[in-house]
Amino acid sequence: MPTPFKWLDERVDLVGVRRALLDRKMPGGLTWWHTLGSATLTVFAVQVVTGIILAMYYSPSPDHAYDSIRYLQDQVVSGSVLRGIHHWGASAMVVLVVAHMIRVFVMGAYKYPREINWLLGVVLLFIVLGFGFTGYLLPWDQKAYWATQVGTNIAGTTPLIGGVLVKLLRGGSQLGAATLARFFALHVLLLPFMLFIVVLMHLAIVVRQGIAPRTKALEEDAPVHTSDAAYPAFYKKAYDRSKGAGVPFWPDITTKDVVVGAVIVLLLLQLARSFGAGLEPPADPTDSTYVPRPEWYFLPFFQLLKLVPGSMESAVAVGIPTVLVALMLLLPFFDRKSTRSFRKRPVARVALMVLGGSCVLLIGASMSEDSAAAVTPETGRPLTSVQRAGRALYAAQGCGSCHAIGGKGGGSKEDAPPLTEIGLKHSGAWIHSFLENPLRFHAQTKMPSFGPPTLSHQEIEEMTRYLVTLRGPNGDLRKPEFVDTFPEPPKTKEK
Ligand code: HEC
Repeated sequence: MPTPFKWLDERVDLVGVRRALLDRKMPGGLTWWHTLGSATLTVFAVQVVTGIILAMYYSPSPDHAYDSIRYLQDQVVSGSVLRGIHHWGASAMVVLVVAHMIRVFVMGAYKYPREINWLLGVVLLFIVLGFGFTGYLLPWDQKAYWATQVGTNIAGTTPLIGGVLVKLLRGGSQLGAATLARFFALHVLLLPFMLFIVVLMHLAIVVRQGIAPRTKALEEDAPVHTSDAAYPAFYKKAYDRSKGAGVPFWPDITTKDVVVGAVIVLLLLQLARSFGAGLEPPADPTDSTYVPRPEWYFLPFFQLLKLVPGSMESAVAVGIPTVLVALMLLLPFFDRKSTRSFRKRPVARVALMVLGGSCVLLIGASMSEDSAAAVTPETGRPLTSVQRAGRALYAAQGCGSCHAIGGKGGGSKEDAPPLTEIGLKHSGAWIHSFLENPLRFHAQTKMPSFGPPTLSHQEIEEMTRYLVTLRGPNGDLRKPEFVDTFPEPPKTKEK
């Protein structure tokens, strides 16, 4: 009677599989940086598991998406932790993929013979960003809705195909039920399928080629260019030499990978438990005062678009990503020098510094802008630049001497009503006409009129945009009940 191992081995060659996958010799002296790829794989596995459970509770329609997430958070055991892990896991994927790419870039590991694996890596980066973009919409809260509105608008600035692209992404001209269904299908069917296939190819190549060794193993006596006819033979010899002093894949390399993977999973769990995933009020397509915010890893790009003048926006929105992708895809083909050590590659050093530095600066700029904008306690949310201009006008015109907002200001004898919740009481259209000429509304009013020449129409509109954001405490959760009564239009005498 053969043992189960022997029985299986005779049929599927378990020993052969073990020899091919686990007993392989790897170059010695690999760093902890070499674990980033497998760490990404670990987080991917976490995303698959948590994602499947989330999908069991999720309902991809605008009427039910938000409530299904609320239900998961409030009623399902560990539901909010589960969602938290998936949320933080998404960020971790981006961080790890980028860190892994930086490691490969710094060690010159995209050079011969790993050009194809670098290309697959670039594809994987974009699949991961695609996951982030599509997943962001699924909770169907304010943040989700408005960020996707901006994101799809940016896609719409693409020359020639912009219009078609937006329609394709949104499933129509408006962001709505069709968009949500599309993003859900992309997020749980197409992207996972693509990621799975590309990861398999990526890993198959790593298994065939072995892990790239430390840079010095491939430097000594190397032909100058990887395109030199003698390079492949040199490479093979140098690589085999590095394996001579090497270690087996199992258990040496795998132990490190497991340690790093476990630390990251614990970290995700801790982040999920301490911070959760956050859920804003349900999406309100009519609330044009909401300030959209993309996920943090899209911030550098988002901030850049804010900085360029409007006329150049579409050129930058499409141009920069296109150039970056082209550079990344072409990198292993124009960089044919065999030098791998980062210290001896000044151009690569400058390129990485410029790219990394500008991303950090842009994220910083965006965050400091946010904290400046967040200092509006009366609205409880950051304001757009127009709303901030309106807020400044409100202060400059001394509206606060008569009116109170949230208990601050007012108190002059004119007993003006507080404006704390004016955004729930009146529409923007009403407020605009009232500010322009209150006398038309109440003949006896004590409210001064601010129409031209005191303020221009544009200034009145700016102030209106600010006033409509005033909704009092928990204003986001309350529905406005406008009591707009407009005066009879003045009778025009017929001639
Ligand atoms: C001299 C005191 C005074 C100043 C200054 C003043 N208001 Fe008024 N405001 C009033 C009074 C009194 C009313 C109520 C009169 C009425 O309803 O006809 C009023 C009504 C309003 C209303 C309608 C409120 C409601 O609940 O219907 C708005 C909006 C408003 N003011 C905004 C402003 C803004 C914005 C400014 C500054 C540009 C401003 N007010 C400056 C006295 C003032």
